[in-house]
Amino acid sequence: MKRILIVGGGSSGWMTAAYLSKAYGCKVKISLIEAPSIPKIGVGEATIPNLQKVFFDFLGLKEQDWMPHCNASFKSAIKFVGWNTRSDPDDYFYHMFGQLKEVNGIPLSHYWAHLRNAGQISEPFAYACYNKAKLLDAKLSPKARDGKSCMSHAWHFDAHLVANYLRDLAVSWGVEHIEGEVVETRLNEDGGIKSVRIQSGAEIAADFFVDCSGFKGLLINQALGEPFIDMSQYLLCDSAVAGSITHDDEANGVEPYTSAIAMSCGWTWKIPLLGRFGSGYVYSSRFCSKDTATEDFLKLWGVREDQVKLNHIKFRTGRNRRAWVKNCVSIGLSSCFLEPLESTGLYFIYAAIYQFAQHFPDATLDPRLADSFNKKIEVMFDDCRDFIQTHYFTTKRNDSDFWRANKHELKISDSLREKLSAYNAGLVVCPPVTTNESDYYGNFDLEFSNFWTNSNYYCMFTGLNWVPERSHPKLGYHDEWMKQALVEFQHLKREEEAFAATLPTTYDYLLNIRGTRSN
Ligand code: TRP
Repeated sequence: MKRILIVGGGSSGWMTAAYLSKAYGCKVKISLIEAPSIPKIGVGEATIPNLQKVFFDFLGLKEQDWMPHCNASFKSAIKFVGWNTRSDPDDYFYHMFGQLKEVNGIPLSHYWAHLRNAGQISEPFAYACYNKAKLLDAKLSPKARDGKSCMSHAWHFDAHLVANYLRDLAVSWGVEHIEGEVVETRLNEDGGIKSVRIQSGAEIAADFFVDCSGFKGLLINQALGEPFIDMSQYLLCDSAVAGSITHDDEANGVEPYTSAIAMSCGWTWKIPLLGRFGSGYVYSSRFCSKDTATEDFLKLWGVREDQVKLNHIKFRTGRNRRAWVKNCVSIGLSSCFLEPLESTGLYFIYAAIYQFAQHFPDATLDPRLADSFNKKIEVMFDDCRDFIQTHYFTTKRNDSDFWRANKHELKISDSLREKLSAYNAGLVVCPPVTTNESDYYGNFDLEFSNFWTNSNYYCMFTGLNWVPERSHPKLGYHDEWMKQALVEFQHLKREEEAFAATLPTTYDYLLNIRGTRSN
């Protein structure tokens, strides 16, 4: 192939442009067309740890290169607030990054559950089985002053800044930046895309097209007619009201985690950046009007409507039947979207880019490449959908029609049913291929079958007060194993204390890498 045209210039467009330029730019001419008049949807975004290894490392960018350009801060977990009772600030638990330690090949989660069922441990799961929950409470940085990483972490940032930063980079690597709005798409005889025409009348042809046009799916849905499979039977939320809230970092510190605060018809994200945080109430329009959602959102942060610029978003939950059709691949919102609960939005983008680069076609466009790619995207999406869905129907909240509907109405896939029953039987659900953190984030986390592992299921389910009915039967036969696990629990505590004594606060660390105290 000689020429690729990316349509759309949000996070997905520019991430694709930068990545493909690095991977194939010396042989393929890459152009990106973007309409300055169409606003980007990106708000404050939360990511997951493999962003660095999978995406930025490939571009040759270290954390310290890109972070300051994007007002980026750290994220070491998701804090779920109010998911067990109605708005009690003490009702919270952490969904941690990283894989649990194992003792005799069995993850610590299972020793914890055994002790818990026997009434011998009262400490919550995340505090007993990881060495960082208290560090999160204290808002400590995941990195030491010398830059050494002490816990796996991801980032919060302003998606507009990331798009701009990657645009400058991609353009400096030779990506052609065309400004204009696509008004027409022309097809060729085999039904693939031939060219797009922009307002100015110019027609731009290419061998291959990447649809990054957002929810409207300009090429994949509108021009090629690929159906979008709606998944609203699995997840009820379809709307959000979002804004940016100013924050006194000096007085309150910067939280090194995303918060997900349960509300009466959904939940609110809180994504701390320096000097402000991005926030949005994700709700179901079936149960809550736009006005009520807005009112509840403003009330949550104690601000008036004239103090914050609100952004109302309507989203479609689901995926295209096929993400790649003929000579067009969809990446980002034009391909698939879940709701933002587990920070999968940007992940879906670079996971798709990565897979596309692995399946990169030549001019023959062998359909088996597209088939294999499409299968991957399908598994990635459906598996994330299932995991997110569990948060809604395992919570005991039932104080509104929204929460009650989540308990009784949702469609649940067979593969999820199997996982839930394995969990309840005391088995290890989706064991990770490796517990070595850097190997995990380097390779294995990209295998969609290994994305949500036992650690994730345990964080969420125990946080929602669902401990398996039975502990792992194997443990009952080995008294000495339990002693070894207790030693490991102690060990984690000592590591945690040592980190607590040396790590700077997240606020201090971020100021340091910025080299300034002002925003
Ligand atoms: N394998 C992913 C990771 O650990 C799973 C994940 C996605 C996740 N979103 C998350 C884990 C949010 C904790 C919190 O990166």
